Amino acid sequence: MPVITNIEDLRVLAQKRVPRMFYDYADSGSWTEGTYRANESDFDKILLRQRVAVNMENRTTRTQMIGQDVAMPVAIAPTGLTGMQHADGEILAARAAKKAGIPFTLSTMSICSIEDVAKETGNHPFWFQLYVMRDRDFIERLIDRAKAAGCSALVLTLDLQIIGQRHKDIRNGLSAPPKLTIPNIINMMTKPRWCLGMLGTKRREFGNIVGHVKGVENMGSLSEWTAKQFDPALSWNDVEWIKKRWGGKLILKGIQDAEDAQFAVDSGADALIVSNHGGRQLDGAPSSISALPGIVDAVGQKIEVHMDGGIRSGQDVLKAVALGAKGTYIGRAFLYGLGAMGEAGVTKALEIIHKELDLTMAFCGRTDIKTVDKAILLPGTF
Ligand SMILES: Cc1cc2nc3c(=O)[nH]c(=O)nc-3n(C[C@H](O)[C@H](O)[C@H](O)COP(=O)(O)O)c2cc1C
Repeated sequence: MPVITNIEDLRVLAQKRVPRMFYDYADSGSWTEGTYRANESDFDKILLRQRVAVNMENRTTRTQMIGQDVAMPVAIAPTGLTGMQHADGEILAARAAKKAGIPFTLSTMSICSIEDVAKETGNHPFWFQLYVMRDRDFIERLIDRAKAAGCSALVLTLDLQIIGQRHKDIRNGLSAPPKLTIPNIINMMTKPRWCLGMLGTKRREFGNIVGHVKGVENMGSLSEWTAKQFDPALSWNDVEWIKKRWGGKLILKGIQDAEDAQFAVDSGADALIVSNHGGRQLDGAPSSISALPGIVDAVGQKIEVHMDGGIRSGQDVLKAVALGAKGTYIGRAFLYGLGAMGEAGVTKALEIIHKELDLTMAFCGRTDIKTVDKAILLPGTF
């Protein structure tokens, strides 16, 4: 067993253990992948101020996101097909999040269903991410199912009415379950752990959708299915009825622009997530960490601002918090842990991030995450 010291170690192991089609699905951005790369590299440009001879005892990373207690300001981001990175992936990641004391967000496009995750995590509250499809009856039923499962927040994703082109997914013929073509079979034969896991579970299709949307028994190509089912006419008026139907905490995901951030405030949502979908939608958009300060300046006093995109360490979390994010989300960082080692891998990813966050906060002379602000950053680097 290799020694795992950071998220990159988990990525390398995941690449070995997960079939190419699903590994590539996670480790890719749209078109040139410029925004995908900038999400990570822009964090490196922000420098921290080292402080010394500060009492570093009794540190805490505990805080709140949308009024809910969290062990650190990090949630698991919603990711589609998580149950294809590892058998029963959503259930395993939700369990790891529960153990770590942070929120888990289940994607509409998950393999394990809302009900599966609720049952298998002992009805521990999790968050549900909603994509809006043309079939509004289905969306209403989905919202009701999330309510019935005790989800404690709805994360409404606004940046995927149409899907950004990811070249690798087209080349690999991404589908769930994977089609048994000769190249796929050959590749899967080199991933015996993954195959054994998949043979041991019934969950190999989109659990929230197959059997719940009229006429959908088989989803074929993900990008074609998305193009047919997702609603390109989604508007702020829809946010209003969704908020009403849901009736609980609402988080709007995919905001990159100060004008849209103001619409989010006007909608009455509880929080917004500065996000470019992990560089998977509009290539050429700014990195999330570079967009964050403008949004915080514009609406930070009126709505809770969260962010995601490019977080690969606890240092990245600390920088986002210093720039005004009340919470962050990790996508690939947990997916790599999951693909590498299942639930233990997600736990490892969360432990790595927590330890890095805690130590970096201390090196910067702070002992309570709630006191972290821009003063821990080197002027001129953000
Ligand atoms: C493989 C993958 C699948 C994703 N699927 C969804 C999804 O179903 N719904 C959603 O709102 N965002 C989805 N996202 C975006 C994430 O929620 C999040 O915004 C992004 O992963 C953050 O960037 P990071 O991966 O660099 O942490 C997905 C991201 C990845 C990598």
